[in-house]
Amino acid sequence: MRAAIFHENGGPEVVRIEQVARPAPGPGQLLVEVRAAALNHLDLWVRRGIPIETTMPHIGGSDFAGVVVEVGEGVAADRVGERVVVNPGLWCGHCRECARGQESMCERYRIVGEHTDGGFTEFVAVHADRAYRIPDDFSFEEAAALPVSYMTAWRALVSRARLRPGEDVLVIGASGGTALAAVQIARVMGARVFAVTQGAANVQRVRELGADVVYDRATTDWSRAVHADTGRRGVDVVVENVGAATWSGSLRALTRGGRLVTYGATAGPKVELDLRSVFWKQIEVIGTTMASRSEFEDMLRIVFAGRIRPVIDTVMPLDQAREAHGRLEAGGQFGKIILVP
Ligand SMILES: NC(=O)c1ccc[n+]([C@@H]2O[C@H](COP(=O)([O-])OP(=O)(O)OC[C@H]3O[C@@H](n4cnc5c(N)ncnc54)[C@H](OP(=O)(O)O)[C@@H]3O)[C@@H](O)[C@H]2O)c1
Ligand SMILES: [Zn+2]
Repeated sequence: MRAAIFHENGGPEVVRIEQVARPAPGPGQLLVEVRAAALNHLDLWVRRGIPIETTMPHIGGSDFAGVVVEVGEGVAADRVGERVVVNPGLWCGHCRECARGQESMCERYRIVGEHTDGGFTEFVAVHADRAYRIPDDFSFEEAAALPVSYMTAWRALVSRARLRPGEDVLVIGASGGTALAAVQIARVMGARVFAVTQGAANVQRVRELGADVVYDRATTDWSRAVHADTGRRGVDVVVENVGAATWSGSLRALTRGGRLVTYGATAGPKVELDLRSVFWKQIEVIGTTMASRSEFEDMLRIVFAGRIRPVIDTVMPLDQAREAHGRLEAGGQFGKIILVP
């Protein structure tokens, strides 16, 4: 089978299309014929190799959807032919965190496509209980756009930041896959949504997706503007994923008792934190990663009920995986970049 694979860490140029052996489903697994796979910023970190160590040579791709073509021992044969999307989380199932349903905090938590080969290829063997049926009116491309971005945004807002209807939320880096998911989910949760992006076209698009107020970071001091637009109050929740470039503005945007939830550091992981603002404003800084099994299922239920439609930037053939990496790295995308084998 063909795969977008790299043998060394580096820029997009290390990604090549090669023939590799087709996997066989082990006990409890099924074999998925990939019909669409989505890129995440994670795929760029993994390819660069900083600070992530992975298998080598490596096939990236944590997000994919396809058709079940074979089942391993112990899996019902009638699953063959099912259209599925895969939860890429891998967990041990018996540690303390797994026992209390916090799978993404498992001490052995890993991610398909990061710690193992992923979906930028034609076939992947996955645990049968991580493959979920896709409704007929959802395309493989739309389904592939979901897992990492939508599960992360779901856990960040629902479980970690405890967003409530009527609250004000500010989403940073809003054209990113995960941030766009946060805009859509916050909207469905009944929050008033503020967002930061770059460029007039993106401002317009984020607004069309349901954000009430959108700032252009190139032209607006958004951390001040958000105070003006909330009656000098600030927002209840900030969704952070950019890191160094936006951190101080994100803290400034919070109201007293506000919650900042962070899951990424695209523009750098080292930030300053003035403890006086933490205790005097009584704010919470909350970390989050991926999602538990039940959060993933809750997210799918809401999306598949038709309440949210994932945002797709481009669909490209798998053979252009290198160009897809380049496009995401350049940062001009809006929503998910999809590869089709
Ligand atoms: N912990 C987890 O479980 C988890 C899960 C998913 C993602 N992540 C992390 O979260 C981050 C976002 O992931 P993603 O896949 O959604 O990324 P993405 O699609 O590549 O989006 C990144 C967005 O960040 C904004 N941005 C980038 N550099 C910026 C800068 N210097 N200043 C301001 N904004 C900047 C841009 O949005 P605008 O142009 O609209 O401002 C860009 O579109 C990544 O670091 C990723 O590793 C972590
Ligand atoms: Zn565990």
